Amino acid sequence: MGLLRRALLAASQSRWLRERAMRREFVRRAVSRFMPGEEVGDALEAAARLRSSGMDAVLTRLGENVTDESEADAVAAHYLDLLSRVAAERGAVEISVKPTQLGLDLDEGRCGARLRTLAERAQATGNFVWIDMEQTTYADATLRLCRLAREGGRPVGVCLQAYLRRTAADLERLRPLDPAIRLVKGAYDEPAAIAYRDKRQVDASYLGLAVSFLKEGRGRPIRLGLGTHDVALIEQIAAQVAPAGIGREGFEIEMLYGIRTGEQFRLAKAGYRVQVLIAYGDAWYPWYMRRLAERPANVTFAIRSLLP
Ligand code: FDA
Repeated sequence: MGLLRRALLAASQSRWLRERAMRREFVRRAVSRFMPGEEVGDALEAAARLRSSGMDAVLTRLGENVTDESEADAVAAHYLDLLSRVAAERGAVEISVKPTQLGLDLDEGRCGARLRTLAERAQATGNFVWIDMEQTTYADATLRLCRLAREGGRPVGVCLQAYLRRTAADLERLRPLDPAIRLVKGAYDEPAAIAYRDKRQVDASYLGLAVSFLKEGRGRPIRLGLGTHDVALIEQIAAQVAPAGIGREGFEIEMLYGIRTGEQFRLAKAGYRVQVLIAYGDAWYPWYMRRLAERPANVTFAIRSLLP
């Protein structure tokens, strides 16, 4: 992992920098590349535009590591309301939540209860709840939360990170649940003892996990979202599973709003199922810093937006 990337990930955790950055208009301008706006209405409008181009959306309100139960309750209430608002969309707009945004740092039981309420509402409205995967310290608890929320076949899926050495085993353990998985490379700075740090190793891990999950789950009600902008990797996976009779409709492609937009349209036109994750809300600082870290060239872009 490069020095700049590590520095950006360290900066993503700094309260001092967060407070300063969020007050600067030029930073807000740079962030707008990755977000249609801070309001849920902005995200819903963007979702409607995507829908007219044959793509679905996943909405996520930014925020993590809440420090107060009432804040976590407010987040859950927000998502409950959102699930009701998008009920008419028949699953074209799903939601994605971070466990620490629902209070995991405070009390796992209460966090789990909030998540279960969201899953029940999603089941009642024909919708779906994705659980994000945060730093590896939260991985075991996140998988426990996922199992509880998924009980009774509730519509819940979880994100797994291909950079973690443990992921193949996690996937195996989740298999009896006929799970919905969003597979990503991983966005945090994890130590070499538990994570691959070389891009080629991460990519190889991603390829192996996706192909085996799809092939072994064939004929079962599994769901796999390839949460990556790495189109070459997606095409490699598609080529490797095609001989097993798994076509373009056999998995989904999930990308972030504002990243490789041209590819999102091209892949949807080519018959892939494309979902775009749209973030909104005012707690964008750590999330935005992780987007910069993923592609340090974005830093140049951010600096350029300083210029008139
Ligand atoms: P990679 O980094 O190899 O990028 C492939 C290409 O995509 C790059 O060459 C570049 O062209 C483009 N690209 C990638 N990132 C870019 C950026 N920020 N700006 C501009 N171009 C970029 N992580 C996590 O740990 N937990 C989670 O819950 C999630 N959730 C999640 C949901 C969805 C829908 C997506 C798409 C991603 C996540 N992630 C995540 C983030 C993920 O772990 C990873 O950090 C990013 O997707 C970047 O890696 P890529 O797979 O795109 O590959």
